[in-house]
Amino acid sequence: MRYEDKTVLILGGNSGIGLASVEAFAREGARVLLTGRNQATIDAAVERIPGARGYQADIADLSAMEALANNLQEEGVVVDALFINAGIGGFAPVRDVTPELWDEIHSINLRGCFFAIQKMLPLLGQGGAIVITGSIGSDVALAGNVVYAAAKAGLKAVMRILAKELVEEGVRVNMVSPGPIETPLINRNVGMSDEDADKLREAMISVVPMRRLGEASEVASAVLFLAAQDASFITGVELLVDGGSLELR
Ligand SMILES: NC(=O)c1ccc[n+]([C@@H]2O[C@H](COP(=O)([O-])OP(=O)(O)OC[C@H]3O[C@@H](n4cnc5c(N)ncnc54)[C@H](OP(=O)(O)O)[C@@H]3O)[C@@H](O)[C@H]2O)c1
Repeated sequence: MRYEDKTVLILGGNSGIGLASVEAFAREGARVLLTGRNQATIDAAVERIPGARGYQADIADLSAMEALANNLQEEGVVVDALFINAGIGGFAPVRDVTPELWDEIHSINLRGCFFAIQKMLPLLGQGGAIVITGSIGSDVALAGNVVYAAAKAGLKAVMRILAKELVEEGVRVNMVSPGPIETPLINRNVGMSDEDADKLREAMISVVPMRRLGEASEVASAVLFLAAQDASFITGVELLVDGGSLELR
């Protein structure tokens, strides 16, 4: 019960890694606030998790993020752990990358995540923790992944610099970077057919030393560790949850 009497805000908490984290935080006693775009899956998550509250809010929409922050602040909510997890995938080789694809992915995965943190900062209490979902994709030279990888690499820079800027306020900022994880994201990369998604899954498994995809709950465990007092002397790090993919290449 590491999160008893703690409030946790998870942006992108209605599916995959975010949902597994919502469940894990709640199991350890947290009062969970979660966001997403899809109202049906937000409602389903809130229904399953006692005391959870859900908000439909697009992370790419800065005014929606500001409104959410203002509403929570007016209610006097103090956030102990902020998990910035919203993200989308999208594959295209360099010649096929359009400005629209670039902007769609970056407006969520980089610009959206950065400004969401900025807007939520006033909610964070002393000793608060921020965990951001990166990806080993920012370090693996996977052909076709340039747009996503660039956004996640940018997000890693954001994590390190915010860790430095906020350290004196007693706020820790860390990143959890998953390898291939079995979640709906693998099947809904922008512009990818089902057949291509199957091929991508096989290609991903073949480069994981553990020869399997990870489970969302395995990423959630790392998120809970980084956000808890267990990690009280840890800030500015990227924790890989990837079955050895990056370090054992
Ligand atoms: N699965 C992997 O192999 C893998 C590997 C490395 C990194 N990651 C990262 O892990 C994170 C979670 O992905 P996942 O694999 O769990 O996929 P997922 O099941 O598709 O979950 C993505 C989450 O982000 C939310 N989201 C996406 N766009 C959003 C927006 N504009 N505003 C608000 N919420 C938004 C989704 O909500 P809606 O469903 O309502 O849109 C959902 O809750 C992402 O940042 C992803 O890049 C995943």
